[in-house]
Amino acid sequence: MTRILFAILVLAAMPVAQSADQIIIKFSHVVANDTPKGKAAEKFKQLAEKYTGGRVKVELYPNSQLYKDREEMEALQRGAVQMLAPSVSKFGPLGVREFELFDIPYLIPDAETVDRVTDGDIGRNLFAKLEPKGLKGLAYWDNGFKQFSANRPLRKPEDFRGLKMRIQSSKVLEATMRALGALPQVMAFSEVYSALQQKVVDGTENPLSNLYTQKMHEVQSNLTISDHGCLVYAVITNRKFWEGLPANIRAQLEKAMVEATRYERDIAKKENDDALAAVKASGKTEVYVLSEAERKVWKEALLPVQAKFEGAVGKDNLDAIHRIAAQVESRKTKKK
Ligand code: LMR
Repeated sequence: MTRILFAILVLAAMPVAQSADQIIIKFSHVVANDTPKGKAAEKFKQLAEKYTGGRVKVELYPNSQLYKDREEMEALQRGAVQMLAPSVSKFGPLGVREFELFDIPYLIPDAETVDRVTDGDIGRNLFAKLEPKGLKGLAYWDNGFKQFSANRPLRKPEDFRGLKMRIQSSKVLEATMRALGALPQVMAFSEVYSALQQKVVDGTENPLSNLYTQKMHEVQSNLTISDHGCLVYAVITNRKFWEGLPANIRAQLEKAMVEATRYERDIAKKENDDALAAVKASGKTEVYVLSEAERKVWKEALLPVQAKFEGAVGKDNLDAIHRIAAQVESRKTKKK
């Protein structure tokens, strides 16, 4: 009996040999681990390896460790990595500018509208545009709303005049900054902190979870809570890789992605609220919350951006988003 028990203990202690046909998914992204996207990528890893019984191994490469903004999209297309979750503001260089509808300032008012837009026809149609580029859309993740930071108070549109403001590679974001009298500067996310520190740019915009985890609040004297735009991620894979997977593995990964997406959306608001509390507690930057009256002035100053991009992002899409936002608002009012 003792010998059998001993043999069982020895076998149990042996590392599971990686089977020759293990499938590796390199998942690269540009933000810190302790952000909604970072935590959701970790959740996907756990669930994907669990549901495939270890047949799939997900290797996470956060914080631009492997590739930074533009590089990561090229790496995915050539199959050097298998999964990304870039901001939808970064698909213009790929030739799919329609994703920039999410960048239109003050178009989408709340997270529920974001999710109903991404999970409906608009989100599906946008993913369809990725397929000819060799990419496959798997899910949309949210990271709440973006705020502005700079080294001067930003309370009215004219306060932006002459500021060099870092943006993602989006024509809508470029037009937004110009409508405020600022000078837009496209820059990889991994370079933003040092550019702010060295005053190469004067300010930027991002959700608080990114601002805080990248320590931007330490090199920006002023933060304005403007909620002027949403940050949405498209979780994408290399289409050839995905279609080459065994059907059962694909189904298990899809199940993992559905659960990781639900988890990400559940934590996004709290992660950003916690980041705001931490920024305030740090005392490093002055936090100003726009009043409703001030927000109205900003919305009016930025309205021409929506008209300017109606053709590029689709008037039908804009009309549909307005309808969805109105439905969400009406449901909220009825609940009160
Ligand atoms: C940015 O580049 O500002 C963001 O898209 C980074 C991210 O992925 O959240």
